[in-house]
Amino acid sequence: MNGPLRINILTIFPEMFDSFFSVSILARAREQGLLDIRMTDIRSFSSSKHRNTDDYPFGGGAGMVMMAQPIIDAMNSVRNDYPSARRIYLGPRGKKLTTSLARELASEKEIILLCGHYEGVDQRALDCCVDEEISIGDYILTGGEPAAMVLVDCVARFVPGVLGSADSPEEESFSDGLLEYPQYTRPRDLNGLEVPEVLLNGDHAKIREWRRRESLKATLKFRPDLLETASLVQKDHKMLDEIRKEMNQTCSFEN
Ligand SMILES: C[S@@+](CC[C@H](N)C(=O)[O-])C[C@H]1O[C@@H](n2cnc3c(N)ncnc32)[C@H](O)[C@@H]1O
Repeated sequence: MNGPLRINILTIFPEMFDSFFSVSILARAREQGLLDIRMTDIRSFSSSKHRNTDDYPFGGGAGMVMMAQPIIDAMNSVRNDYPSARRIYLGPRGKKLTTSLARELASEKEIILLCGHYEGVDQRALDCCVDEEISIGDYILTGGEPAAMVLVDCVARFVPGVLGSADSPEEESFSDGLLEYPQYTRPRDLNGLEVPEVLLNGDHAKIREWRRRESLKATLKFRPDLLETASLVQKDHKMLDEIRKEMNQTCSFEN
């Protein structure tokens, strides 16, 4: 068995992670030794009298900037125990977190995540102790901690064993370039709202076909841009033509 995926998160608010990593799938994965997640408090590396971690920006402007010294010292200390780690800064200008990047990170042995705050991090810390920057989307958070949680959560799903044998991360939205089909559970009839008949008859070929069609339909409706890069076979294109016709008919009835 491979060792756990080792993740160390550099933050000035380690307590923010306590409950997030202590419940549900991530907690179980930690107990099973599949994930080893630790937090490092950047503040404890500050050489200033009051353990400061931020200061005013040179050149003026609003807000504070995280100082380079505590970050560099924290990173150097952690690096001793994580010699092969990919060192990642969570920041809005980084490359976007995607399914393929998450899959790639899950195959690493060690990852160090740096969370920024305030107006960001002194560039010299990023220049000397970060290998890459990753963003979770085109919007601004108050700090890198929620972004680190999102990254760890989505990477963990690709670590073998984390989801249990029955669930596959490859059957979710985006894994094959399409959105997922709709899901239903009991009861079959909810005050007249019924589950599609095809899901109840045990014909797995028909269920597969229905799910593929619904997946294509959802993608066409919500994220048509994904269809340009999804891997589609001839049968998918035929289904898409049929779905487009159905949609056009519905629209013309509505007009
Ligand atoms: C208020 S933000 C700083 C934003 C920065 N002044 C800017 O305009 O790019 C504080 C911290 O939150 C984190 N952060 C904010 N938005 C993020 C995003 N979309 N993805 C990842 N981390 C983000 C970064 O670590 C950043 O240092």
